[in-house]
Amino acid sequence: MNDIYILGIETSCDETAAAVVKNGREVLSNIIYSQVDVHRKYGGVVPEIASRNHMDKISLCVDEAVFSQNLSFSDISAVGVTYSPGLVGALLTGLSYAKALSYAIKRPLIGVNHIEGHICANYINNPKLKPPFLCLVASGGHTSLVIVKTYENYETIGDTLDDAAGEAYDKTARALGLGYPGGALIDALAKKGSDTAIDFPRAMNVIDNFDFSFSGLKSAVLNYLNKCKMTGEEYVAADVAASFQRAAVDVMVAKTVAAAQKYKLKTVAMAGGVSSNSELRCALKKACKENKLTLNIPDSVYCTDNAVMISTRAYFDYCLEKFSNLSLNAQSKC
Ligand code: KG4
Ligand code: ZN
Repeated sequence: MNDIYILGIETSCDETAAAVVKNGREVLSNIIYSQVDVHRKYGGVVPEIASRNHMDKISLCVDEAVFSQNLSFSDISAVGVTYSPGLVGALLTGLSYAKALSYAIKRPLIGVNHIEGHICANYINNPKLKPPFLCLVASGGHTSLVIVKTYENYETIGDTLDDAAGEAYDKTARALGLGYPGGALIDALAKKGSDTAIDFPRAMNVIDNFDFSFSGLKSAVLNYLNKCKMTGEEYVAADVAASFQRAAVDVMVAKTVAAAQKYKLKTVAMAGGVSSNSELRCALKKACKENKLTLNIPDSVYCTDNAVMISTRAYFDYCLEKFSNLSLNAQSKC
């Protein structure tokens, strides 16, 4: 069989990314232009600014992804692109570019769901990983538990009801004056604090319900900080970060293990920006070991938004000749 080279394009939020992956698992290039510095002064992603920056950077990223490997567009087998979920204007820039490119180079277009893309990042570092398995997806916009039944078939058994895990991390970081994006900053600060200092709530921590809710935890942190400010009581930021993180991680780990047991899945994976969190990785590793589950963790660089994961997800559709047509539209929600 000939080698398959998929060009992936990802512009769902504030990373402009392009990558070429060979045969679904071998990363040839992984180009990411992060707009974090552009959005930091606003304390979060400004959608219109994100779209304009994607337009500025997309062709540079794609050219770099292809030409840095001494490939040309004629070597590309198909163009995979994120079409949902995400910021609609941001998605449209990548999708329109991918459509035009696929038409120009006469190669199929493959629309990719961003969440399924995150999950497929697991195939990169774990060449032996095969479905079925359970994946905890924890990102800025989503917290879900997904059963990966086959390479193309995904069933979500629990989802975010309000704030996603990453959103709760970012809002807690903002309340503590740490800056944006907050996840990695809380991760670092928490190492200096006590995770039992404050007893923050573990929301929806009930057996057999795999949905997540983090807005109560976020509000509890804000209420705690407000109360301290009003009464003049000093608080220890590292303790707040560690206690918040303990509550968030406890819920994600407990639900993941309970879901694996309920659905009799022996293999667990994790995906999304929050899965690069050191405490979540450590706690899930321990819980999986105790419960005789095999855990797969992607490298941190493939946890946050990237285009390698989009190429990998597109590869599986390519093998089935499941292509998209040029009427494919961007959707903010799946
Ligand atoms: O998957 P991602 O790059 O983008 C979305 O699809 O949302 O995830 C971004 C989220 C942000 O909320 C960021 O704060 C969080 O991932 N994040 C972390 C860490 N690194 C990134 N959260 C906790 N700990 C980290 N080390
Ligand atoms: Zn993402």
